[in-house]
Amino acid sequence: MQIETLILGAGAAGLMCAAEAGPRTLVIDHARAPGEKIRISGGGRCNFTNLGIAPERFLGGNPHFHKSALARYTQWDFIELVSRHGIAWHEKTLGQLFCDGKATQIVEMLVGEARAAGAELWLQTSLTGLDHGPEGFRATLEREGRRKTVTAHNLVLATGGKSIPKMGATGLAYEIARRFGLEVTETRPGLVPLTFPEGRFAAISGVATPAGVTADGPRFDEALLFTHRGLSGPAVLQASSYWREGSAISVDLMPGVDLGADLRAKRTGDGKRGLSTELAKLLPARLVEHLSGEIDLGGRLGDLSDARIDALVAAMGDWELRPSGSEGYRTAEVTLGGIDTDGLSSKTMAAKTVPGLYAIGEAVDVTGWLGGYNFQWAWSSGWAAGQAI
Ligand code: FDA
Repeated sequence: MQIETLILGAGAAGLMCAAEAGPRTLVIDHARAPGEKIRISGGGRCNFTNLGIAPERFLGGNPHFHKSALARYTQWDFIELVSRHGIAWHEKTLGQLFCDGKATQIVEMLVGEARAAGAELWLQTSLTGLDHGPEGFRATLEREGRRKTVTAHNLVLATGGKSIPKMGATGLAYEIARRFGLEVTETRPGLVPLTFPEGRFAAISGVATPAGVTADGPRFDEALLFTHRGLSGPAVLQASSYWREGSAISVDLMPGVDLGADLRAKRTGDGKRGLSTELAKLLPARLVEHLSGEIDLGGRLGDLSDARIDALVAAMGDWELRPSGSEGYRTAEVTLGGIDTDGLSSKTMAAKTVPGLYAIGEAVDVTGWLGGYNFQWAWSSGWAAGQAI
């Protein structure tokens, strides 16, 4: 079978690309259903983009690479598409847009757009062979126990990253990219809970508090959640993408609170009150109890010296914690790193050295923050490649 474009992966980026690439496009996926990550995303409501999309909210080897695609197909373009399909949505927090109904509406919309553009979708289909010759890419596909050979002028790598192998994530895009001489940068789990030695936070598992968390990058002011195995919650997931094995993170347990001024004022006004009682007004009581095992929180407010107040402010505002690891790809929302952007055109996502080869979505070394940024990258990069095809 001779076609124009073969897209590997019917996920967010692959479906978007198919909708733009038009007729004589075949999208294959080894899964039973397209867009499975879209379906489960955002607690089943899909956080499909963010009003605050900005280049500095993405990580990657080249901080400029993603600018072009994000500027040409913006969050407003996707919002317009969603609205045109009558899908109701709302802003939750921090610019994050979610469907009012189910995430499957987004999958249905993309599959509908791809089909309307003339693309075909083969599910439960695997790639078992791939050659490149003068006539294009010759792919051997296996579907329902039958082999089919397809020749395509364009091949789009859209099989995503390594996160959640249970959902069918594989390293296929990286493998093919390498075979065609493209570099693949080191891949790591991102947007992932951080783990600590056994039992470190077991006593306060389930406690959540607002916090400012910083790894080797920007500070994230969101919720922090203590778990049996370590730390989670949006503030930690965000910081995890900037964290490196062996290094420490800093946790500000009093974001927006001037603890020093508060304690100094109450030292005279409420001198008889216990320090830990006062802190339990600002933090969950179980957390204060846990902290008292690490920091001296005994005594009364009236007895606090300036030096002790300064030490408390430092301890609460810059709690240094050294994770032992992360939960890894098993639960990571994304994969950091991937196909090196040096080898790709930022305008079309085409490989510079292999005519007709494209890479889009999470497989590429571009990773967004938590909150709809990764889907926007999938839409923008998929659109850019589809337009060029
Ligand atoms: P994606 O993973 O969507 O698609 C890849 C496709 O390729 C899959 O359909 C897969 O089956 C297929 N495939 C893989 N290997 C194959 C092979 N060897 N042969 C054939 N097919 C193969 N982002 C966001 O912006 N907002 C959110 O709310 C969330 N929520 C969220 C929740 C959870 C639990 C996860 C794991 C992730 C998110 N994300 C997210 C991240 C988001 O899902 C992710 O960035 C995009 O789906 C990436 O789109 P891609 O199309 O690149 O990969």
